[in-house]
This record gives sequence, C-alpha cells and structure tokens, in this order.
Amino acid sequence: MKSAFFGIEDYRRAAQRYLPRMVFDYIEGGADDESGLKHNRAAFESLRFSPSRLTDVRTRDLSTTLAGQRMELPLIVAPMGLTGACRPDGDIMLARAAARAGIPFVLSTASNVSLEDLARRASGRLWFQLYVVHPEHARALTARALAADYEALVLTTDVTVNGHRIRDLRNGFSVPMRLNPRMALDVLTHPAWLTRQVVGGFPTLPNVQTEGSANLEVQAALLQRRMDAGFSWDDLAALRESWPRKLFVKGILSASDAARCRALGIDGVIVSNHGGRQLADFPAPIEVLPSIAKEVGSTTAIIVDSGFRNGRDVVKALASGANAVMLGRALLYGLAARGEAGVAEVLAMFRADMERTLALIGCARAAALDRTHLAQR
Ligand SMILES: Cc1cc2nc3c(=O)[nH]c(=O)nc-3n(C[C@H](O)[C@H](O)[C@H](O)COP(=O)(O)O)c2cc1C
Repeated sequence: MKSAFFGIEDYRRAAQRYLPRMVFDYIEGGADDESGLKHNRAAFESLRFSPSRLTDVRTRDLSTTLAGQRMELPLIVAPMGLTGACRPDGDIMLARAAARAGIPFVLSTASNVSLEDLARRASGRLWFQLYVVHPEHARALTARALAADYEALVLTTDVTVNGHRIRDLRNGFSVPMRLNPRMALDVLTHPAWLTRQVVGGFPTLPNVQTEGSANLEVQAALLQRRMDAGFSWDDLAALRESWPRKLFVKGILSASDAARCRALGIDGVIVSNHGGRQLADFPAPIEVLPSIAKEVGSTTAIIVDSGFRNGRDVVKALASGANAVMLGRALLYGLAARGEAGVAEVLAMFRADMERTLALIGCARAAALDRTHLAQR
C-alpha cells in the first residue's frame, strides 16, 4: 500500500482531487437530501462489538459459504455503471483486481465494456447484473451472459424509476456528456483525468449498442435510467426458468420479499438500498439484515451492501447474518485514485481490517460470527 494511504478516507480524498467535480459527485451523491447516505454510515457506527477474551486467535479464517460455494474472502465487487468515468477500462481494472483477490466481480448492464469483451479480457468469477429496461432486450442480455459463461445473474429491483439525485441535476451530469461552460472549466482544471480520458476514450454503453430492434429505445431509456417499472414477481419466476445458474435478487429490504424470493427458488438476496442513491428514507441494510436472516438465512444466501467503508463494517454484517458483502464506492475511490493497483489496495485494506477485527473481538473464524459478537443495545 502506498505510504500516504492509511484508510479509505485517503483514497476518497485522492479520488476527489483527481476527478472533475461532476464525476466525483456522480459517484458520491445520494438521493434526495442525502440523509439515506448518512444514515447508512450512522447505522454501522451505532453498532458495537462484544468481545470474547482469552480465545485462541493466532490464525484467523475469513472464509464463509455463499450459496453452497466457499468464499475465501467474503467480498464481492458491486455492479456499478459508468466506471469508465473514473478510469478508461475501469470495469476491466475492477474485474482484474477482483480476480487477483479471488472474489466475484459483477458487471453492470450500464458497463463501459461489453459483457463478451470483459469475459475475454478478465479471468476470475464473473457475474452479470441485469437492468430490465425492455423485456426483449433483457432476454437477449440474459442469453448473452449465459453464452459468455457468466457464473451468476444479479437482477436489480430497486430502480423502478430513477432516484432524485440533486448533485447530478445541479451539475447537468448526463450520458453522453453535454458540456456547458462550467463543466468545461471543471474538466480543464483536472488535466490528469482529461488526458487519460482523451487517450483511453470517453465511456460508452456497449451492452446496449449491439442489440436489434429494441436498440435505440433501450439506449435512450438506459441513459435516463428509465427501467421497465412493470417487472413483477411473475416476470421474476420466468427469469428463474430461463437462467439455469445462480440467480441473485438485489434491492431487497424486507423479510417478506426475501421469503417470496426463496419461494421462487432464487439462490440469494442482496439486501441493499443502492448505496442511498434511490430514496433517502429506506432503512440501512444492516438494520434489516437480522430480520431477513431470521426469515430466510437457513435456506437462502444473503449478500448485503450500502455504506461499507472498512473491514469492521463487514464483520458487523457477517455477525448480523450476511454470508458476503458487496463493495461499491470504496472500490471506486481506489480505482479513481490509483487505477487497478488502488482497487487491489482497498481490497487488501478490507482484508487486513477484517482479520484485525476478528483478533480483537476474539473470534478466529468469520463463519462463526453471530449476534453474540455485537453488543446489545
Ligand atoms: C457510481 C455507481 C454506479 C452504480 N451503478 C449500479 C448499476 O449499474 N447497477 C446496480 O445494480 N447498482 C449500481 N450501483 C449500486 C451498487 O451496486 C451498490 O448497491 C452500492 O454502491 C452500495 O453502496 P456503497 O457505494 O455505499 O458501497 C451503483 C453505485 C454507484 C456508486
């Protein structure tokens, strides 16, 4: 790790310096008054550990089991659109760093590399995230992900319409970028970023550019994050039929929805409020995790995301019933600050943090974490 980078805040600040303001705001921002964003962090901070003393913690085992598969490190790279605005080839850098760490990488529908190209250029465990913008397009994408040998499909369910993101509206941030004079100044005052973008290419959305009849309609809708708001449980049942590999449903925040997923044979739920980017007033995932784990934890895999910034947060989630954690912005800070090396460093930081936390709370195995490791409030 570079000597100037001791914690995630150092990467966040470096990302902020490197990126034009409109790009940093796109990554960092939340919905509405951003209270959901703050609440995600506050929920972690209000949880405290209850240590067990005099246990043997000479070796620490971070592994867990997720949907029947061993995870040496229970982390996953969350699907994120437009990572190419951080670094050209951002998706590839994230996927390669994930492969080196032995963890899955989830490619977004709104990625800046096609799903086939990514599969060619990065090895490791690849998952594909599906936004249903148009049923015909979704069927085509699913078939392509199967043909390209993606190991799992992640259906995102919390973008029925776009969240109200005031930073993006204020900055006039859109794809494709339409520069106004203020944005031009923003870009010109970040020459390192601009040079890389000019050399490597500004981001496009290739997953939606190669389709047939629905092509133009889908592109326009995806650019405005206008999804198929009619997608229902019946459609999910049909998707389950058409996708023979692991299927995860992202954006679940209630035990009753988790139970419906289980009834449809979904392999796992991703407890998420989309990092506070959709609606400010949802609970923090870490708050609803215990009730969801109680309902489906013995039968259905549970992944959680939103607001994870260090390994202590991850240990709290595992103790609350999660099998694995998805990281979003924390990895984009590493990516923007230092490219693929930065992503690897942030992952290494999470790993070290998790190991240290296990030692300090007196629990040698991540798989043995439960509510008794958290202080009762
Ligand atoms: C810049 C950015 C783009 C995102 N794009 C997508 C996306 O295309 N599909 C999706 O399911 N989630 C997307 N998300 C949400 C993440 O998958 C994840 O739920 C969220 O980032 C977790 O919160 P965190 O950033 O606080 O870790 C995006 C998040 C960010 C920050």
